[in-house]
Amino acid sequence: MWGGRFKGGPSALMREINASIAFDKRLWREDIQASLAHVVMLEAQAIIGEDDASAIAEGLERIADEYALKGVPEDPALEDIHMHVEARLAELIGPAAGRLHTARSRNDQVATDFRLWTRNAIDEADAALAAFGRVLVARAEAHCDAVMPGFTHLQSAQPVTLGHHLMAWFEMLRRDRSRFADARARLNESPLGAAALAGTSFPIDRDATAAALGFDRPMANSLDAVSDRDFALDYLASAAFCALHLSRMAEELVLWASQPFAFVALPDDFSTGSSIMPQKRNPDAAELVRGHAGRIAGQLVSLVVTMKGLPLAYSKDMQDDKEPVFLAHDLLLLSLQALAAMVEKTAFRTERMRAAAEAGFATATDLADWLVRCAGLPFREAHHVTGRVVALAEERGCALADLDLAALQAIDARIDSRVFEILTVDASVKSRTSYGGTAPERVKEQIKRAKKTLNV
Ligand code: ARG
Repeated sequence: MWGGRFKGGPSALMREINASIAFDKRLWREDIQASLAHVVMLEAQAIIGEDDASAIAEGLERIADEYALKGVPEDPALEDIHMHVEARLAELIGPAAGRLHTARSRNDQVATDFRLWTRNAIDEADAALAAFGRVLVARAEAHCDAVMPGFTHLQSAQPVTLGHHLMAWFEMLRRDRSRFADARARLNESPLGAAALAGTSFPIDRDATAAALGFDRPMANSLDAVSDRDFALDYLASAAFCALHLSRMAEELVLWASQPFAFVALPDDFSTGSSIMPQKRNPDAAELVRGHAGRIAGQLVSLVVTMKGLPLAYSKDMQDDKEPVFLAHDLLLLSLQALAAMVEKTAFRTERMRAAAEAGFATATDLADWLVRCAGLPFREAHHVTGRVVALAEERGCALADLDLAALQAIDARIDSRVFEILTVDASVKSRTSYGGTAPERVKEQIKRAKKTLNV
């Protein structure tokens, strides 16, 4: 396709290092879609004739059918997907195929194809996030007043509800969706017509091709259009954030599934056994979601480093932009689907969660607050008194609510029997009614708002 000025063909090694067909064949749909938009425009602008244009369009449709049926047959003599499509077109329609590449370069072509692909990837990620969100909301609704320990430093801190915890996960996913949506809005401009780097002397209509491909507008600067890969980095950054969230959720499932916690029983079809320890039920899928997050973040770093030293406009280094995005996307979708399915089928052992919340003196803050509110102590003093009450309960091996009034009054005479109303974990969660707090009525409001955004 570019051999005119050369005496000999490329060496085998040159071919090998230059070829991208093994991975960029994934762009075949987008490549044909963009070529169809281009050829329609070329004809409308009278840059090519009607007969050639319809032969090209029909040929492209036929190639799409062939690839859909049998995949892309890889020819090692042809570098990339753009050449594969064009070479097949020449086989099908003859010399007219050579007119398709008028007023275009592989530089704006690949940028266009890859933007289209990434836009689809964003839409797929968004759909998977929405599906996971629906699972979380359903499970949160069923457990909006199930008490569990809330942790800081992984120490029992204050009682919360399982519904509240699951809705915290939901919020992480909601931000991920908005990050992908931002990336999509920035991505959605068309590089097509930037040609190699400087634009073209043909009277093309960039608005028409942009509109045909669903882009909001053509990119403003042809040099930028062929050298920008921010859209791929935006995708990877959004994916890395999302994967990091999935990893934190997965880590909690691993922890909750461990015997000392036993907060959840993982579904059989998402657990694995051990070949030597018959009692084992391992949370492999959750661990792999956690592991994949590292690889996804790695793909972001990979492309950042590829791009950082490149002068404008196109350099071949940029051929390495695709594999990180493809791999990150595959790993992300799999992780989203697997984790959503796990969460959907996990049995929450709410009796264990409640017992853990009761065991950890998690209502100590409630006692301190009560001493301030009802007994008039300054908070610092209330904190100290509460510390002595906790020490006593620890010594007796009982919960705060199980201490008798005389023992409490021996620590501070200002304590009276009303205190027992606030020492239980249920009273504690019910009292946290501030906006966004763990009180079941607040959690229900959160769920209601979430359902609205999910259209459920
Ligand atoms: N396969 C190439 C890539 O993915 C297409 C662009 C080739 N452009 C060029 N000037 N060699 O980047």
